[in-house]
Amino acid sequence: MRVSVIGCGHLGAPHAAAMAELGHEVVGVELNPETCRVLQSGRGAFYEKGLDELLAKHVPTGRLRFTSDLAEAAEWADLHFLAVGTPLREDGRGYDVDQVVRSVSSLTSLLKRPCTIVGKSTVTVGTVARLQEIVSAQAPDGVELVWNPEFLREGHAVEDTLYPDRIVAGLTSPGAQKAIEEVYAPILARNDVTLIVTDPPTAEVLKSAANAFLATKISYINAMAEVCEIVGADVSTVAYGLGIDPRIGHGGMRPGIGYGGGCLPKDTGAFTWRVGDLGATHAHALLQAVEGVNHSRMDAATALVERALGSPVDGARIAVLGASFKAGTSDVRNSPALRLAGRLHDAGARAVIYDPESTDAARNLRPRYTYADDAATALEGADIVVLATEWPQFTKDTKFPSSAGEAVRCKVLVDVRSAVDPEAWVAAGWEVWQLGRPVQRPEK
Ligand SMILES: NC(=O)c1ccc[n+]([C@@H]2O[C@H](COP(=O)([O-])OP(=O)(O)OC[C@H]3O[C@@H](n4cnc5c(N)ncnc54)[C@H](O)[C@@H]3O)[C@@H](O)[C@H]2O)c1
Repeated sequence: MRVSVIGCGHLGAPHAAAMAELGHEVVGVELNPETCRVLQSGRGAFYEKGLDELLAKHVPTGRLRFTSDLAEAAEWADLHFLAVGTPLREDGRGYDVDQVVRSVSSLTSLLKRPCTIVGKSTVTVGTVARLQEIVSAQAPDGVELVWNPEFLREGHAVEDTLYPDRIVAGLTSPGAQKAIEEVYAPILARNDVTLIVTDPPTAEVLKSAANAFLATKISYINAMAEVCEIVGADVSTVAYGLGIDPRIGHGGMRPGIGYGGGCLPKDTGAFTWRVGDLGATHAHALLQAVEGVNHSRMDAATALVERALGSPVDGARIAVLGASFKAGTSDVRNSPALRLAGRLHDAGARAVIYDPESTDAARNLRPRYTYADDAATALEGADIVVLATEWPQFTKDTKFPSSAGEAVRCKVLVDVRSAVDPEAWVAAGWEVWQLGRPVQRPEK
């Protein structure tokens, strides 16, 4: 199939590459000329596991190409994916859907033949009806609109696009369903994915409800960490015991500094506002509480660092390992790791940040903080080490606790992601502080 992907950011670039991998001919349409240039050179404009490999495989053959020319894509493709951004409005009152409205409007005014427009951007209920009005008014006959929300996990974007657990399609005609079945045919043929065909409002609510539930689960275990801290209990055992129940499960049950990134904060914020606006008062109160817990995590993490130091952070030399909002991506949008580093910096600490993939992105976003280009420089002479992003080189490499121990002044680790096995660090002589858990120290 000839496919276009309009908007080639964190969702669109992996999606375009994955569509080429599925065997389609693909054109990615990207407004930002620099992003477009980098992608057309066969590399990702940011780090996402497996993306560079697919771009290097499919761009040189011409199966996948990138352009800023929407007219060319409008004339050429049978199916157009929309993957443009839907940021939170500055006043917090839902999404700013300008990018989506503008791209649908520009595309439909250029179309001259039947095709399918498949929206993947996250929108709240009511948006697709508004877009359908534009399609009906501007597009020629035979142009269908489908809403196909995306559930991928950043850091696993390529893998999750090629091997999704579900495909949701909000649509209103057999022709639109046929197009979805055709574009995802190689995935559906595996028979290991659930295709949910529904109406557009249900697809919109399903996506918002999924992200709100993930946020709720994260805030729930973080609230339990608060309880455990007060009574001296161990939240990791509580989380493990809870997750054994299949109705609860272990996913998302790691206490930490809260959810971040380009999706969960804005999606939860937009949905919270929208359900309140719709008059769903109980849903609104529930989601407000979820957001409240998330906002409290910076205070909890800062307090843990101060307890571990035995003093305020002012003047302390702190190594901050990690800046991206989670491991596997260089995305620093709304990153709790970078926010915590900023808090420590602003409180007078000499915080030095290192991230294996996002140091440059963090430098661009927050140039006034101090960065190191390798872990050893960040660790050199540190009074305390804060593990802020759960990269495997910090958490899984069994030699890291010993090598890190040689560089620091004090072997004190504050793991605000509950990501390390404290035993390995304690065995290497470290004191380990984690949220909602008693401190672990080597025996004297
Ligand atoms: N990032 C994720 O993991 C993820 C997962 C699921 C859903 N989503 C949703 O996907 C959407 C995109 O998110 P993102 O993280 O990729 O955002 P992003 O900001 O990284 O990417 C959006 C891209 O669209 C481009 N763009 C904007 N208007 C355009 C136009 N008219 N023509 C061509 N390009 C245009 C921008 O330049 C940008 O590169 C959002 O609605 C988001 O909520 C994202």
